[in-house]
Amino acid sequence: MKRWLIALLVLLLGRRRRRPLLDEGERVVPPGAPDRGAESLVLLLFGAAAVCGVAFPVIYAWDAIPNQTQFLGLALGLALAFISAACIVIGKRLVVTEELEEEYSGTHPDDEEALDQLVEESGSRFTRKRLLALAGAGAGTALGAALLTPAASLGPVFDVSSLYRTPWRRGTRLVDEAGRAFLVDDIEEGTFYTAYPEHADREQMGAPLVVVRLEPAELQLPDDRRGWAPEGILAYSKICTHAGCAIALYRKPTFPAVEPKPALVCPCHYSTFNVATGGQVIFGPAGRPLPQLPLEIAGGGELRAAGNFSGPVGPSWWGVRRHGARP
Ligand code: FES
Repeated sequence: MKRWLIALLVLLLGRRRRRPLLDEGERVVPPGAPDRGAESLVLLLFGAAAVCGVAFPVIYAWDAIPNQTQFLGLALGLALAFISAACIVIGKRLVVTEELEEEYSGTHPDDEEALDQLVEESGSRFTRKRLLALAGAGAGTALGAALLTPAASLGPVFDVSSLYRTPWRRGTRLVDEAGRAFLVDDIEEGTFYTAYPEHADREQMGAPLVVVRLEPAELQLPDDRRGWAPEGILAYSKICTHAGCAIALYRKPTFPAVEPKPALVCPCHYSTFNVATGGQVIFGPAGRPLPQLPLEIAGGGELRAAGNFSGPVGPSWWGVRRHGARP
């Protein structure tokens, strides 16, 4: 008996009052007067947001612009502010509001029907619904494009040609710091030289070279690089393929019978590149070989480039983790 009483009590207290069924044609929300001024303001705000959203990728792509970061922030901030302002105007001036006296559960068919009606009638002030929806979608799309734009900084996806662009062309002379052309006889074994392309910007990443000389019999270059090292002279990019430090050490065995072969070494994290085999990584964190530049000897013994590098110059993200740890 006690259980029955408790169950009855719970049933009575738990019952919600239902919204009385609406008569045919009866409104839930009182009608509101159209406000074309507010609509125009919303259109203007959405338009301004779209312009700011589109401006973001334009500024992003325009490297030469001063204070680029600040302009990027401004474009994104203004786009968000304009969209927020548009939403506020819609909420305050264009959506008819109704004060709820009871909760809508949304589960009872009557409530759901009333809710649908409420939503429908709340927008009764709009006179240019489609245009406003279009403007809102435009602003949202432009903002989405702006938010996705920074993903382009993850690396070139469609056009990777910039990775291969260097000042080296067939026939470019190798010159020293003073601009003097390197001759074959200048290059001795057991040391390395820094060379630059003649008449080119030395600050470019693809410009500096390290030049070394081996006995031609020591060379073990890949088949497609036969002829890249005339008289045993080899040229490699000076920029380490790990994190972009300058290659500044040359390992020369003092007792070749037992000591490791000659190699170029980066002092930052000790990536070590085998000069005899085309710059292969034999130690350290670098993920790919040092790019090699093909050489040729011109009249008078001048050293010249016979083409561009064997691969992209500079630090790389691809392949850094492609290989396991090296001994
Ligand atoms: S930058 Fe050369 S080893 Fe790290």
